[in-house]
Amino acid sequence: MSNTVSMDILVSLCKRRGFIYQSSEIYGGLASAWDYGPMGVELKNRVQNFWWREMTQLHDNIVGLDASILMHPRVWEASGHVENFTDPLVDCKKCKQRFRADQIPEENMASHRCPECGGELTDPRQFNLMFKTHIGPLESEGSVVFLRPETAQGIYVNFKNVVQTARMRIPFGIAQVGKAFRNEITTKNFIFRTCEFEQMEMQFFIHPSEDEKYFEHWKQARFDFYRKMGIRESRLRFHQHGPDELAHYAKIAFDIQYEFPFGWKELEGIHNRTDYDLRRHMEFSKKDLTYLDDLRDGERYIPYVIETSAGLTRTVLTVLADAYDEEEVEGEKRVVMRLHPELAPITVGVFPLVKKDGLAELAREIERDLRHEYATFYDQGGAIGRRYRRQDEIGTPFGITVDYQSKEDRTVTLRYRDSMEQVRVPIPELAETIRLAVREYRRPA
Ligand code: GAP
Repeated sequence: MSNTVSMDILVSLCKRRGFIYQSSEIYGGLASAWDYGPMGVELKNRVQNFWWREMTQLHDNIVGLDASILMHPRVWEASGHVENFTDPLVDCKKCKQRFRADQIPEENMASHRCPECGGELTDPRQFNLMFKTHIGPLESEGSVVFLRPETAQGIYVNFKNVVQTARMRIPFGIAQVGKAFRNEITTKNFIFRTCEFEQMEMQFFIHPSEDEKYFEHWKQARFDFYRKMGIRESRLRFHQHGPDELAHYAKIAFDIQYEFPFGWKELEGIHNRTDYDLRRHMEFSKKDLTYLDDLRDGERYIPYVIETSAGLTRTVLTVLADAYDEEEVEGEKRVVMRLHPELAPITVGVFPLVKKDGLAELAREIERDLRHEYATFYDQGGAIGRRYRRQDEIGTPFGITVDYQSKEDRTVTLRYRDSMEQVRVPIPELAETIRLAVREYRRPA
């Protein structure tokens, strides 16, 4: 059986098992907006925590920040987004569909013919991707604000604050996770590209002479992160941006791409943004954002920035697509999400073999004990095999079954999701056994 999941199967599993729902579904849905259900929000939070620990806690020179979504409108002039953050669009005069000019076949652009209906296409027009809104009750020019299209700018405008109040010395980083908004035209492939999404970004401030060294360092570190999270290495690769792909702020950029069911696509970007952003904010705000480096004989300079920019919601899609597996077990199809135990929405399922004879009470007691350390789920309904399958489908890595023997010798069965192996474990040793298994987890080849 195949372990490359089709998008239809994945979308349907996500809906059925409470990972992801279409936004405003009872009104027919809103294109390209999605809601995270009980399993989805747990998964998304765990992906975020995994990133946060990796990018802040494990370093003594990276700190966190949570800047607001709405920022002073001048920020987006300084950043270049008002001028440059555009997509070229063409409209079909006949079927009225709108396309990104760089995403339709060249022959259609050359012949001005719609790829859907053959109708005549308009000339390309530049369309700004930022969402505009107004602050306050009056919709005047002076009240315009934008929903941030990247979280990075919140970091740059707080650079001085962080240097002064957290006493950071270059090289150091500022990490942030938060919502970003883009008025995207091509809105398909589930949560891959949406108008509202979340980013996990880290801006690493360095001396300009060290940009190549730190670029290489972060490029590799970010690739290793996905392997650590259990993503198959064979589905990861680098892609270097050519001159026509580079963002307006980047000197050099590499994407980490993942092989999604719809092909190789960007998962994260690593950019050398030079001193572009800080320099521009200095010009526009008239504030001094230079850095006085006492470790370099008092040299004063505008730091360069190496940026690592990952999509949180896109990483959730990656994790889901990568985890999906099907196999045949005793003549039946088993669907199993091989999620890394640190990402799985539920870590431990606890099941009494039957409800009666005190087994349910003992199982409850075990579950209540473990819930202080693990995300647990208690289920006493239906055949035990069916209960295991339900947990396999949401990627629960460990299952504990309480049976008659448990009452006699205080041991239970611990079932491993991936191998389906079952071992007997004394109840007092459960927490430690699971802790070790999480730490040593390797996805089966
Ligand atoms: N600060 C740099 C920056 O925003 P980007 O390459 O435009 O760079 C970084 O975006 C990451 O954000 C992408 O690699 C992707 O994971 C995610 N992303 C960008 N646009 C997205 C969208 N419309 N929907 C979901 N994720 C998106």
